[in-house]
Amino acid sequence: MLAIDQGTTSTRAIVFDSGGVPVATAQRELRQFYPHDGWVEHDLEDIWRDTTVVCRAALEQAGLGAADISAIGITNQRETTALWDRATGEGLHNAIVWQDRRTAETCRKLHADGAEPLVADRTGLIIDPYFSATKLGWLLDHVPHARERAERGELCFGTIDSFLLFRLTGGAVHATDSSNASRTLLFDINTQDWDEELLRLFGIPRALLPRVLDNSADFGVAQAEFLGAPVPITGMAGDQQAATVGQACFEPGMIKSTYGTGCFALLNVGDKPVRSTNRLLTTTAYRLDGKPTYAVEGSIFVAGAAVQWLRDGLRVIADAAASERHANDLPDTQGVYMVPAFTGLGAPHWDPDARGALIGLTRDTGVSHIVRAALEAVCYQTRDLMECMAADGGTPPSALRVDGGMVRNDWLMQFLADILGIPVERPVVTETTALGAAYLAGLRTGVYASLDSVSRAWRRERLFEPAMDEADRARLYEGWRRAVRRVRSDLA
Ligand code: G3P
Repeated sequence: MLAIDQGTTSTRAIVFDSGGVPVATAQRELRQFYPHDGWVEHDLEDIWRDTTVVCRAALEQAGLGAADISAIGITNQRETTALWDRATGEGLHNAIVWQDRRTAETCRKLHADGAEPLVADRTGLIIDPYFSATKLGWLLDHVPHARERAERGELCFGTIDSFLLFRLTGGAVHATDSSNASRTLLFDINTQDWDEELLRLFGIPRALLPRVLDNSADFGVAQAEFLGAPVPITGMAGDQQAATVGQACFEPGMIKSTYGTGCFALLNVGDKPVRSTNRLLTTTAYRLDGKPTYAVEGSIFVAGAAVQWLRDGLRVIADAAASERHANDLPDTQGVYMVPAFTGLGAPHWDPDARGALIGLTRDTGVSHIVRAALEAVCYQTRDLMECMAADGGTPPSALRVDGGMVRNDWLMQFLADILGIPVERPVVTETTALGAAYLAGLRTGVYASLDSVSRAWRRERLFEPAMDEADRARLYEGWRRAVRRVRSDLA
């Protein structure tokens, strides 16, 4: 199975054997565009070219041809909004990335007009620039003639899954899956259909929208030009939902947290869309045979991106691995906290105007303190989400399954267990997002008979047990909460 993982900062292709073991990986970093404060864009042609290059490279590395691949699974950065010409497949504008805050004012107006209860009820989401609807509205309002053309059915909207599917199938298929649709603010997660009232609210013509399928489905066939022979595409999910599948979180109460650009914790809540009373999101975890399973999600916008900023922005570390050495060098940060609200704060604050801060600096503060503070922030933010989940009244999870690039950092995993006060489980395959996409593809083609066979394939590599005493845990976390209060725009 070939998994395409089109993420925020890179595009990856991983070939998995039928046992879920990765046999070849190829990756390219994705160019980022920051045209204004708080704006983030991607070039759709970069995304398409990188996808083609990494898929071919992964096959070559594995010494395989298209005929050896039973199916393709696609997983992707969610919410990122693309608009393209149905006839030519050409993008009308750069994609607007999920982190982009340009529609903060539109969201404020929608709040003021009292739209929140309707939106929350139908979509399980919060009105925030994070999601696709206001980004799509912006494109329709700013790209010349886009709105008329959209109404005439000449354009397609999609998140990146949908764009890749369209390109892979040579423009034959305009579809998405329930997990990606559930991040748009236009999709009713209860009825599992686009919602007319929401389309009116956000001013989105229905003719733009893709068909919504299960996560394991016959999405279409990648054309022969792509890999040399046609290959069916049978799995698709937003990256966080794919990771939930890759981590085999199939029982209510199971939770995973993925540490990529951002950090996203998804708690399986079963077949009813349980609502959070503490500003977490409700979303489709996966939909199989028409039956949705839901998750409560905590979304943090900056995790690995803070380490990337230390490397590329501040240039104080040569690579991500150096962050672990810095953290290990110190007993603590001496009261330094970093709140990495570079693109506002996500759950549970939902404050698009907050900006980052470094707090508690003294004459002794060095690079190591700052680096360690960036890593600690990832753990404190995860604790924020777990506190909300606990306040929502569910049974507290007994362990957290983790994945994503950052979890290779042993120091980080130990500090996470210490701050959460529960064990952290790291699986053998930490590229769980791609693995989940491969599982979804394989479930359709019969490589996997059921979710049970996926559960049986999950393997733990290491368990991190909490070792910090309760007083330290409480003191450090209280310091974090104080630091967050200082960057909140609504408390300024
Ligand atoms: O919601 C955004 C998320 O899907 C992005 O994931 O891995 O690219 O940070 P990632």
